[in-house]
Amino acid sequence: MTHIRKAVFPVAGMGTRFLPATKSVPKEMLPIVDRPLIQYAIDEAREAGIEEFILVSAAGKGALEDYFDTAAALELRLKAAGKSSALDALVPTRMPEGALTILRQAQPKGLGHAVRQARRHIGDEPFAVLLPDDLIQGTPGALSQMVNAHAEVGGHMVATMDVPLKATSAYGVLDVVSENGRIAKARGMVEKPRPEVAPSTQAVIGRYILQPNIFDRLENLGPGAGGEMQLTDAINADVDQIEVSGYRFVGDRYDCGSIQGFVQATAAVALSRPDLADELGVFLSRDLSYPTIAA
Ligand code: G1P
Repeated sequence: MTHIRKAVFPVAGMGTRFLPATKSVPKEMLPIVDRPLIQYAIDEAREAGIEEFILVSAAGKGALEDYFDTAAALELRLKAAGKSSALDALVPTRMPEGALTILRQAQPKGLGHAVRQARRHIGDEPFAVLLPDDLIQGTPGALSQMVNAHAEVGGHMVATMDVPLKATSAYGVLDVVSENGRIAKARGMVEKPRPEVAPSTQAVIGRYILQPNIFDRLENLGPGAGGEMQLTDAINADVDQIEVSGYRFVGDRYDCGSIQGFVQATAAVALSRPDLADELGVFLSRDLSYPTIAA
């Protein structure tokens, strides 16, 4: 079994749907309860055994770098004040020496182009890609589940979930040959198909385990759906040489690239926390409709 040691996190997006918040704060730094969105993807990757973290970022997103840096002055102050639980809260933000690489994607040319930036850092081994916008609550985490399944089938593997037929045009959609439990063998995938032409309702969710030869495909890739260089197309180009499969993970996924999904993720994460669940549960079960004002 090949140990999947490295993961790529594409974080170069502008986050325009979250303006004005993202005018000065990268979208991945917006908090879901008390942790920034990026932390959830990092935690899921760590749990799956990832040891090297490669963020593909962009200009203007320096707060992401600071977040994973040591905050010496802050730590000193907290220590002096005896605030040990506040100090503990910083632990997940620490990276072992040299474990974090932050690259910049100079132009927003799509997900395939973003992943390609990591070529030198991945080298010649299979690796994971996590899109932090897809927040997945699962036990174990979705990437851990995939690492186990990938040990059986190898090749390129994508996470999938069933979506309503009318939603296919928001996703890459798997073209399924056969299914064995949670693993679907695929003959490819289609990026953002209209429901009429969707090959299935198994949508690709932002977790991938890829073989390193994907980089050769990414080098030669032209623009695909939406005029962008699509990771989906690079995977498709390999389908005759390499096993391509989908893994239907167990867990709840929230699309934190949309405001609706972000708010739902916030509620779901809060409800999963013993310190917040009870009071929030009472609040959410109240009639929240706008009060009518008596004439
Ligand atoms: C990307 C991928 C798409 C996938 C989706 C999952 O699209 O290109 O195949 O289904 O992530 O979140 P995006 O949402 O970045 O447009």
